[in-house]
Amino acid sequence: MCGIFGYVGKKNAQDIILAGLAKLEYRGYDSAGISIYNNNAITTVKFKGKLQTLTDYVKKSPVVGNIGIGHTRWATHGIPSDINSHPHMSNDNKFSIVHNGIIENYQEIKDVLIKKGYKFKSDTDTEVIVNLIQDNYKGNLLQAVQDTVTKLIGAYAIVVISANHANELVAVRAKSPLIIGKLQNEYFLASDIQAIYPHTKEAYYLENNDIAHIQAGKLNFYDFKLKPVTRPAKIVDWVIDTAEKGDYDFFMLKEIHEQPNVMNNIFLKYVNDDNTIKMPLVAELINGIENIHMVSCGTAYFAGLAAGRIISRITKFNMYEDIASEFTGVDKHINKHCLMLVLSQSGETADTLNAMRIAKSKGARILAIVNVQESTIARESDYVFYTNAGSEIAVASTKAFSSQILVATLLALEIAKLQKTITPTFYQEQIIELRKLSYNITEVLNSENNIEKIAKNIHKRHSMFYIGRGLDYATCLEGSLKMKEISYMHSEAIPSGELKHGSIALLNEGFPVVVIITDKNMVAKVTSNLKEVKSRGAYTIVVTLKSIKNLESISDEVIYVPESNSNLGINSVIPLQLLAYHVALMRGNDIDKPRNLAKSVTVE
Ligand code: BG6
Repeated sequence: MCGIFGYVGKKNAQDIILAGLAKLEYRGYDSAGISIYNNNAITTVKFKGKLQTLTDYVKKSPVVGNIGIGHTRWATHGIPSDINSHPHMSNDNKFSIVHNGIIENYQEIKDVLIKKGYKFKSDTDTEVIVNLIQDNYKGNLLQAVQDTVTKLIGAYAIVVISANHANELVAVRAKSPLIIGKLQNEYFLASDIQAIYPHTKEAYYLENNDIAHIQAGKLNFYDFKLKPVTRPAKIVDWVIDTAEKGDYDFFMLKEIHEQPNVMNNIFLKYVNDDNTIKMPLVAELINGIENIHMVSCGTAYFAGLAAGRIISRITKFNMYEDIASEFTGVDKHINKHCLMLVLSQSGETADTLNAMRIAKSKGARILAIVNVQESTIARESDYVFYTNAGSEIAVASTKAFSSQILVATLLALEIAKLQKTITPTFYQEQIIELRKLSYNITEVLNSENNIEKIAKNIHKRHSMFYIGRGLDYATCLEGSLKMKEISYMHSEAIPSGELKHGSIALLNEGFPVVVIITDKNMVAKVTSNLKEVKSRGAYTIVVTLKSIKNLESISDEVIYVPESNSNLGINSVIPLQLLAYHVALMRGNDIDKPRNLAKSVTVE
């Protein structure tokens, strides 16, 4: 999934585009490039690798012009290379394009164009689009793009400029996100609002199958039949923090340390001073609902698993869970009595979007817990609760995880209150307990030095396990994902009771095993699993509560997290976020932009 940016205006486009790409680089960093129109010609500069390579080059050889497009890439079709980098030019060098998404029928179109004599330099699906535009072109840029997109199958957002058309640009959205910012006669186009916000608060969100045409300072929208459509301006009145690293080396560490404040922000938004929850729509939301089906991806899915355990524990609802890409909608309970719960940081993840669209088509009601305001998932859901965690830039998600769990827990408490499955006392006690979260997290963050020491002991290992039961297992899944995402060490989360049925075969002397024991009902069982791995020579790192005794003798390391009567797994995930961070740091990895990953994937 890539980041695309475009500019039309009076200023020199190059630096505006580079600044935009810098805000979008977390979406993909395999290559970067720009194309700028000037004097009936287009100059394209693009390089494999991080944006810095491009920035350094154009600093020495600037590209002049006031209309241009730019791209940061997450490779799907064609390896990361200079030639596969975007923008791609047409054979006659009259058209240039940037693209975010996948064209499923590109090979068929390519074969037809090759028969017509077109030459292809790259392995990308994108180069096929721009040559099809050349092939369809009869003097009208908008018409040529429309003729082209009606032949494409896939999810994409594209922006096109032409050497034949000064001050003119055409953009198209088919599923992949695209937003246009307007400032008098200047236009800023981007995959997300982050890159537009520094320039203007007036934003136009393209809907699916929208074509936007900018010409002579005017912006017009059309559908795929070129019938004019109206798209209202949205004034971005929510705060988009400029996402600076401040004194932190990496955004990930900053975002880990922001979690106490994030918890407080959620309380400010969703809880009254009298400890009652401010979610007025819940009664309407659950009216006629018989079960809840959670779908999400990556870290959001693991937050959903934790939330699911809490919802099924205190409410009347049956909980179903699916990794979004596995959701098919065939289950009989996917109907108008089903509430689909989707969790997403970005609100743009294609697999999650696709699952919710399937469920919606079967009559299910959609509730989204999302971080990015006005994101596609938020706009297409029936109900949305924002997590207000602020911008999350690091690819490995941290504060979004804990904020999703807390918002879902407040929702569960409100549902349980309405269903009278909990007493008013329990309701109040839980909310008072949850208010301690920011202190608890701060306390855990203060033990970072100890965690850094443990990281030193394992950072050269090739593989490790995370084991736990119940809610602790959901935390293990997230801890293991963090370790894989940024340290590139193989790791697996395994229900601790299941270990002896196979995976225990991998254990040998010094094999790191993180054991989470915060669920008081499971202490005895998990302690025997801890003894099992210890007896096989494992290096055991136990995350537990001070009140759980006699673990130090069978543990190489013990990390204590604060007691909590509302155990959500948030306290115990913090040490795992820090452990992964410090192992990755010791391995010299680019923690904010780990290889092969992107912040949210808008292709299926
Ligand atoms: C992946 C990100 O691409 O998508 C993960 O690298 C994230 O960090 C996952 O958890 C799901 O993204 P989102 O935005 O839907 O929560």
